[in-house]
Amino acid sequence: MADIGEAPVLAALHAQCFLEVWNAATIAGLMAATGSFALIDEDHTGFILVRTVAEESEVLTLCVTPATRRRGVATALVTAAAERAAAANAAVMFLEVNATNNPAIALYKRVGFGQVGLRKGYYAAPHGMREDALVLRASIPLLRVGFSLQFG
Ligand SMILES: CC(C)(COP(=O)(O)OP(=O)(O)OC[C@H]1O[C@@H](n2cnc3c(N)ncnc32)[C@H](O)[C@@H]1OP(=O)(O)O)[C@@H](O)C(=O)NCCC(=O)NCCS
Repeated sequence: MADIGEAPVLAALHAQCFLEVWNAATIAGLMAATGSFALIDEDHTGFILVRTVAEESEVLTLCVTPATRRRGVATALVTAAAERAAAANAAVMFLEVNATNNPAIALYKRVGFGQVGLRKGYYAAPHGMREDALVLRASIPLLRVGFSLQFG
């Protein structure tokens, strides 16, 4: 579990992964909401932020630094987050992902997410363009794919 004091660390990781800036105050605000939690891997190369409400949970963000990708960090983070959400009574997990984000879509499908919706023009893109979001859903527990890491 990451605590709120680590929001600047999470913001620095987020900045390496997304064009849209989530500063430390934004991340701290999300972490402080009822039912929210964040997990960061032991080496501080990635984190996941999740909100749980009753039987549902939602991935608010997930990122792994470019230098440490394809080592199973994101898989381990989302799997551990689903376990934690289940302990808070969540039975399903939802998220939105840019329809052009093939790495993330591949990652999520591998652990059992399937598409349940489409939000047209949901994301701002360069040059005033908009891009669609896929809404994905998975039952908890997620499919096991064999990565395991320690989390702070
Ligand atoms: C998407 C992201 C979180 C994946 O992190 P990661 O730690 O590299 O993911 P994993 O190592 O757990 O990947 C697991 C599987 O997902 C798929 N996958 C991940 N990245 C991929 C890529 N670039 N191309 C194709 N498949 C990919 C593969 O099936 C991979 O297994 P493999 O490496 O054995 O082939 C990372 O690329 C990232 O931070 N991207 C920018 C932020 C982002 O898009 N976040 C998601 C927003 S919803």
